[in-house]
Amino acid sequence: MNRPLLLNPGPVTLSARVRESLLLPDLCHREPEFFDLQDEIRERLLSVYDLDPEVWAAVLLTGSGTAAVEAMISSLVPDTCRLLVIENGVYGERITRIAQIHRIAVETLAHDWLDEIDLQRLQQRLQQQPAITHVAAVHHETTTGRLNNLAAIAELCAQYDVSLLADTVSSFGAEYIDFAPAIGAVAATANKCLHGVPGAAFVIVRRALLNHAASRTLYLDLAGWCREQDKRSTPFTPSVQACFGLREALREFADEGGLQQRHQYYSSLAAQLAEGLAALGIEPLIASAQSSVVLRAYHLPGIGYDRLHDGLKSQGFIIYAGQGALSRQLFRVSTMGAVQAQDITRLLAATADLVVDVRA
Ligand SMILES: Cc1ncc(COP(=O)(O)O)c(C=O)c1O
Repeated sequence: MNRPLLLNPGPVTLSARVRESLLLPDLCHREPEFFDLQDEIRERLLSVYDLDPEVWAAVLLTGSGTAAVEAMISSLVPDTCRLLVIENGVYGERITRIAQIHRIAVETLAHDWLDEIDLQRLQQRLQQQPAITHVAAVHHETTTGRLNNLAAIAELCAQYDVSLLADTVSSFGAEYIDFAPAIGAVAATANKCLHGVPGAAFVIVRRALLNHAASRTLYLDLAGWCREQDKRSTPFTPSVQACFGLREALREFADEGGLQQRHQYYSSLAAQLAEGLAALGIEPLIASAQSSVVLRAYHLPGIGYDRLHDGLKSQGFIIYAGQGALSRQLFRVSTMGAVQAQDITRLLAATADLVVDVRA
């Protein structure tokens, strides 16, 4: 059977090595072998960004990326604190919703989905509202493929002594993150830039923040998960097979050369795709300098999304629609996962056939 190539932003096309790891012998999560697995994943997650385990903890969770973001937000903004959420897409807006559900004191710095984050407005807000103690932002806003300027946001947060909580679900492992003093935590998942499977997610948190963590839910209590994991235990039944996949994906990530190598590899695929589509008259939504290397959004080339999607699917490629009102204008292509340059060449040829048909 020909496997489809997943060009949606996760889950990703698996490498043979990660796929095979899913078939390891059954494992009870109360046996030492599981805790070896958990320990290795936690250590390897920190080593992706060379983080000091005395200062940072990788807390492994069972759930999707949203579970990690919800654990981070609901646990790390104590009752006496106030959160400012920066929104310029679906995932920023989701953070606000999470904060509201947990009755956290929250306000937003809203932007149009097509806009970059306005740092001047952010500075003004931090200046005018000294009650703000935490800022939440999305690093790679997958809605549009925009890479938000996390380093500049972190700098402002440091200036105003505010802790930054970042959704790095679709950037962790592929984009550079300066874990500068203002970053308190980042949340991410196994099945995007790390190339694991869905079901395992994680928060990288500054250990000092866990001393004042809130415990608003039983299941997403980050400090509780961390305490148990530090003792080589686990509070609940974890997604064991997703952990097998994540460990293998992290080993593969290191063997291939780590963050720098993955960033470069994604960059070259993104550039190849952008150049090939430009030759077909298909323009990107956002200039490459402001885009992630992980996913890009493109204007539909005079052909409805469904026709483009179905035509490409029949050739073995799964692309992704725009969200909300953007679904009528855009399509998105991610190059995460076991994707090769020749796959992009084939994708471009299949796209050209469809576009030429429509324009004929
Ligand atoms: C930036 C970002 N945050 C959060 C999520 C939610 O992740 P999940 O669907 O794994 O819950 C996604 C999913 O694509 C994302 O791209």
